[in-house]
Amino acid sequence: MKRIGLLTSGGDAPGMNAAIRAVVRTALFYGMEVYGIRRGYAGLIEDDVIPMDAYSVSGIVPRGGTILRTARCLELLEREGQEKAVATLRKYGIEGLVVIGGDGSFRGAKVLSERFGISTIGIPGTIDNDLEYTDYTLGFDTAVNTCIEAIGKLQDTMESHERISVVEVMGRNCGDIALYAGIATGADAIVVPEVPYDLSAIAARIERSRSLGKHVNTVVVAEGAMNGDAFAALLKSLVKYDIRATEIGHIQRGGTPTMADRVLGARLGNRAVCLLNEGACDRVVGIRKNEIFDMDIIEAVSLKKQFNKELYETLQMISM
Ligand code: F6P
Repeated sequence: MKRIGLLTSGGDAPGMNAAIRAVVRTALFYGMEVYGIRRGYAGLIEDDVIPMDAYSVSGIVPRGGTILRTARCLELLEREGQEKAVATLRKYGIEGLVVIGGDGSFRGAKVLSERFGISTIGIPGTIDNDLEYTDYTLGFDTAVNTCIEAIGKLQDTMESHERISVVEVMGRNCGDIALYAGIATGADAIVVPEVPYDLSAIAARIERSRSLGKHVNTVVVAEGAMNGDAFAALLKSLVKYDIRATEIGHIQRGGTPTMADRVLGARLGNRAVCLLNEGACDRVVGIRKNEIFDMDIIEAVSLKKQFNKELYETLQMISM
């Protein structure tokens, strides 16, 4: 394979730049040419393509976001959009495409390979950690760490005022950000889409903790379960303490990536290009038990995400 393309698609995630750098540098190692496609599939449809060399990815690892920029592109769902995308690939002689994104982005990649014979490799890039086939997605670790920092700051002020902090975090339909951030900040409870919540049990736990001398409580709510304000309003009817709801919002999607996301980006990006070099297509790369592996793209997106019940039970057991 002589020429490959690279794009980031869907919501951005810290660590995408580390993956971009690894893709470009690995391709150059194998003597391939690399084209960066800006703004995801939208840029592919609109021919927003730039050649990438070793220098174009210098110094990008510490940067959050994606230097290629990204978009959510509905046009790729239509035949006309797909044909335009493929025309751009043919124009530049791009034979293989690396797609960094979530499951929607992977489905787009599959269409391009199935209908038009483009070799595609997917790299899981989303803060949501909502892909079952891989233990972690790129950006999840950084997003959780950003939430941890924000929740810590909230806990300082909430404790001074003896308040309850209800914190809404992202994750779409997946409760992983809430679960990991909740465990890591000693939250009293988490509310996630995967487990029905028991409002009176949460209120009782808060009361018990106060009777034991605690002055602050934290409840982390995943956006896929409920809006933080709405949960705070419900809780207010059962407890006498002052409550403040805070939505962390898009702050959790930015920032310099953690070591885990930088290294994961490098490993996934490297493997993606090694696969293209070996002639593989329709694959996704992921990490399981700290080993990088690859599997069929459709098989990967058809797996239903399983919630980590064990970790959830741990939280239930160790919060007061
Ligand atoms: O998929 C990443 C994510 O940040 C989700 O957690 C969130 O629901 C969504 O994207 C927000 O999307 P947007 O940036 O388009 O508002």
